[in-house]
Amino acid sequence: MSGGGRSWIALPGTALRGAATVPGDKSISHRAVMLGALADGRSRIDGFLEGEDTRATAAIFARLGVRIETPTPSTRIVHGVGVDGLRPTAEVLDCGNAGTGMRLLAGLLAGQSFDSVLVGDASLSKRPMRRVIDPLARMGASIDAQDGGLPPLRIHGGGALRGIDFAGEVASAQVKSAVLLAGLYAEGETSVREPHPTRDYTERMLSAFGVEIEYAPGFARLRGGQRLRAHDVAVPADFSSAAFFLVAASIVPGSELRLRAVGLNPRRTGLLAALRAMGADIREENAATRAGEAVADLVVRHAPLHGIEVPEALVPDMIDEFPALMAAAACAQGATVIRGAAELRVKESDRLAAMSAGLQALGIEVEESPDGAVVQGGALRGGRIDSLGDHRIAMAFAAAAQRAGGEVRIDDVDNVATSFPGFDALAREAGFGLRAG
Ligand code: S3P
Repeated sequence: MSGGGRSWIALPGTALRGAATVPGDKSISHRAVMLGALADGRSRIDGFLEGEDTRATAAIFARLGVRIETPTPSTRIVHGVGVDGLRPTAEVLDCGNAGTGMRLLAGLLAGQSFDSVLVGDASLSKRPMRRVIDPLARMGASIDAQDGGLPPLRIHGGGALRGIDFAGEVASAQVKSAVLLAGLYAEGETSVREPHPTRDYTERMLSAFGVEIEYAPGFARLRGGQRLRAHDVAVPADFSSAAFFLVAASIVPGSELRLRAVGLNPRRTGLLAALRAMGADIREENAATRAGEAVADLVVRHAPLHGIEVPEALVPDMIDEFPALMAAAACAQGATVIRGAAELRVKESDRLAAMSAGLQALGIEVEESPDGAVVQGGALRGGRIDSLGDHRIAMAFAAAAQRAGGEVRIDDVDNVATSFPGFDALAREAGFGLRAG
């Protein structure tokens, strides 16, 4: 059954050739708007992801009194109001589908002198917020959630926050970032220790905006009461969006595709290591640095893939790439074993369940476990998939379908616009067989 929204018909197209530039990084785009808003002065963001998630974050800051100009779709000029310059609003703040938006904002808004209410769409309304509420409460914040720690979140401002030394149980960049952003408003020092290092964009960007912050993989510490200096941000292309092209070009014979200037922060590129271990042929060219982040063109050629046991240590570095990895695993020879990835059950959908059900519908053997799955590579046949309104599930099946024996109908694809507006057009240009269903 479809959950509503539009559908795609995906089927083998041609070999993937040429070059493609995927949109800007979602994680960096959210943070650039947030820090730009809190800074003193005007920050320009180039390569901003013009997706629904990041637009929701920008719209929230506009409601909080920040002037944000859009001279071109992928540019934002943020007129920062300073750490103490946000203005209260009586309206609820709608984060849409974005867990990053809601969790980071929970931390940032906990430090304000006013109350605010964060809401989200149906998917976000089912996602766990205790993981941010608990450490923020330890800092002195007062946040009410629905039963089970679900959104909407009512954040009561005006209280004094104090720094904490937080050792989280979940490896989560969103939780780390929420605590650090609240830490800007807290008395004394705030530190975060992670069970596994996660993406460090908040730390890097705070530093670029002039905040004194100490950080190393798995650790960050800052002192409250610091101000931010405006800073221009050039957002690299999103590795997570490139992932679907890396997989499709790997599995379609004759492909050779260049993905330009993709962000290669080591905490994001676990899929590169996993695909290479599976036999993928992916080269890095034109390496450069963009806004303090490593970027390179990724040149991917078709190669026969074989199954692997995905090292558990790689899981946090490829947390958003399991839909793409499972699509590759379905087209690989032998079994691919995933463990230690229970977090996938609380993403935009339960991604282990969504991918397992979808691959099984296409004739692939998948054995799901509480924290992973075993995918037996095989011959994909045509069939019908429900993306469960999850952008990455929809795009993963569009990639997998490039090796299917028949048409794959993918239902409920509207949410692709949250992270990758224009995916279908860019994919077709590269050679995908993909049309509106
Ligand atoms: C993100 C962190 C990750 C990731 C999400 C973006 C971020 O979430 O899955 O897509 O920008 O900080 P968790 O912190 O829940 O692992």
